Amino acid sequence: MKMINVTRGPQNVPAIILGCMRMPALSVKDAAGVIQNAVDLGVNFFDNATCYDKGHAEERFGDAFVQTGIRREDVIIQSKCGICPERGEFDWSKENILSSAEDSLRRMRLDYMDVLLLHRPDLLFEPEEVAEAFDELEKSGKVRWFGVSNVPPMQFELLKKYVRQPLVFDQVQFSLEQSQLIDQTLYMNNLTTERSIDRDNGLLDYCRLNEVTIQAWSPLQYGFFKGCFVDSPEFPELNAVLAEIADKYGVSKTAIAIAWILRHPAKIQAIAGTMNPEHLKDICSAAEVTLTRHEWYRLYLASGKFLP
Ligand SMILES: NC(=O)c1ccc[n+]([C@@H]2O[C@H](COP(=O)([O-])OP(=O)(O)OC[C@H]3O[C@@H](n4cnc5c(N)ncnc54)[C@H](OP(=O)(O)O)[C@@H]3O)[C@@H](O)[C@H]2O)c1
Repeated sequence: MKMINVTRGPQNVPAIILGCMRMPALSVKDAAGVIQNAVDLGVNFFDNATCYDKGHAEERFGDAFVQTGIRREDVIIQSKCGICPERGEFDWSKENILSSAEDSLRRMRLDYMDVLLLHRPDLLFEPEEVAEAFDELEKSGKVRWFGVSNVPPMQFELLKKYVRQPLVFDQVQFSLEQSQLIDQTLYMNNLTTERSIDRDNGLLDYCRLNEVTIQAWSPLQYGFFKGCFVDSPEFPELNAVLAEIADKYGVSKTAIAIAWILRHPAKIQAIAGTMNPEHLKDICSAAEVTLTRHEWYRLYLASGKFLP
């Protein structure tokens, strides 16, 4: 497994994370098998959220994790708070951050979380309240590191004015097909394509400048959860190039799609959502592949982009 060190955050963590959003579909026994398989492959970092299936993803993970017998200190467990679908709102108030964190710990049967992320920007957020909540969670030993998800640079700065702890992760959508994180730089100032639109205020460069590790969610999905682009007839050119490069390295097309993310010098982590142990094994072979610059560009262009 390719390992990375998160500056001011956890050291020696895997470049591939297992996302638990789809875990409620499994029995506790199967979920335990998925967790054990992940750890055996070197994927000892798990992502969850309070809102995934109304807390059932955290609950299933917690019930399954105790069955594995894996030592708590041998894994990194991350969850996210702030999305409240039952109330139809996002909420970064101190009260909600604290109660969500308590709920997450209870559901996952944990004394502490390694990482807590604010899931999506609450339009009414007050950074002073976030700061107070993070202080309490840190002081009580319930959370070790903090970060955000889907948060643009200026909100990051606003948080940083008050929050004392380093914010070490930003989790955003990024894949060969959903590549808006990098597109805007390539097409900068170009009136002929929508890809030139800066949709996140330069988040990628901001994260690199401020030593924030990006976690790429849905690395294999196209659109907003429309399905996996690998083997999809909607992407013939991309699949042809994936197949050719996969053949060269003796891995699958899926592994090459993940290797494309890992090749970026920003040292991005990819959050795999598969609940199939064979698929995860396949994805992990991405960590053994370092794409050449030419292969990286070929894949990017085959996913429907052009060089200006
Ligand atoms: N921060 C956010 O806003 C946000 C939003 C969404 C997701 N997330 C996080 O990101 C994680 C991953 O998201 P995702 O599940 O959409 O990611 P994904 O890895 O892009 O998609 C996984 C899905 O693709 C399927 N798939 C089909 N063919 C596959 C193949 N050959 N190899 C691997 N998978 C294949 C998987 O099915 P099988 O299980 O059958 O393999 C699974 O249903 C989530 O679990 C969550 O932790 C975060």
